[in-house]
Amino acid sequence: MIAVRNASYCYPDEGQFALKRISLDIKEKEILGVIGRNASGKSTLARLLNGIIIPVNGQVEVDGLDSAVPENIELIRQKVALLQSEPDNQLVSNIVEEDVAFGPENLGLESNEIRKRVDTALQMVSMEDYAKYPPYLLSGGQKQRVCIAGMLAMQPKYMILDEPTTMLDPQGKKDVRRTLAKLKQEQSLSIIVISHDFDELLQTDRLVIIDQGEIILEGNSRDLLVQMDVLRSVGLKGLEITRLIEEINKSGYGIAKNILNANRLVEELCRLK
Ligand SMILES: Nc1ncnc2c1ncn2[C@@H]1O[C@H](COP(=O)(O)OP(=O)(O)OP(=O)(O)O)[C@@H](O)[C@H]1O
Ligand SMILES: [Mg+2]
Repeated sequence: MIAVRNASYCYPDEGQFALKRISLDIKEKEILGVIGRNASGKSTLARLLNGIIIPVNGQVEVDGLDSAVPENIELIRQKVALLQSEPDNQLVSNIVEEDVAFGPENLGLESNEIRKRVDTALQMVSMEDYAKYPPYLLSGGQKQRVCIAGMLAMQPKYMILDEPTTMLDPQGKKDVRRTLAKLKQEQSLSIIVISHDFDELLQTDRLVIIDQGEIILEGNSRDLLVQMDVLRSVGLKGLEITRLIEEINKSGYGIAKNILNANRLVEELCRLK
């Protein structure tokens, strides 16, 4: 478990706290979404969770390891992998499989163990056919999946994806979303998805809404993602389907606002007379 206890963070030379008294438990194998407007503190939280930064007040513990203890940092970073939105900054080698092998090699693992991890990781993200490709020939979505494979090859317990599809085209977004669904099905690690993409967040089990450095609400993702009043109050626009239902209901209809599936909405609309 990652336990965040009353943690606050202020960047050096900044007057304002980027995170204020955050308390949050991230359990093993859970799929957690984090949402909030720009500059609300999401990426800062990600950095706090994997020990890149240390809280100025409060505590972050990863499987009992306090991130304020310098000797714990290496192990914390191994346990908690962090992927940021720009794949080009994270790819370091000229060949896909070498890139995925980079982390395990640094762990000093034996070559057949490295081979096994690389093959499994590339299969997990459906990029095994591209093992010998140079990354520059790949699309943004493919690059991002190679980055995810690189993280998986390290066998982390927790994986944080900080806006993994922001830089991608619609096909790339779809592919990464599919990868997420596959990882979720495997149930081998906790995944924390920071995103502005409501469809991506629909794949999460629990959702945390952050505003101005504070957690303002947390709960079941499917319940929270249709609460337009709450979302609007923190500057978020909500799911397209929920907004559409809202518009239709303005004309006096009473379609349930928790419908998340287009086919179901069509059925409901056909029933209207
Ligand atoms: N390296 C940094 N140095 C100083 N201040 C920073 C740094 N990174 C972030 N901040 C500040 O901390 C606050 C929270 O930023 P953060 O990047 O965590 O927000 P975010 O929710 O990830 O935003 P976005 O949706 O734009 O990615 C902002 O006020 C930001 O300006
Ligand atoms: Mg961010």
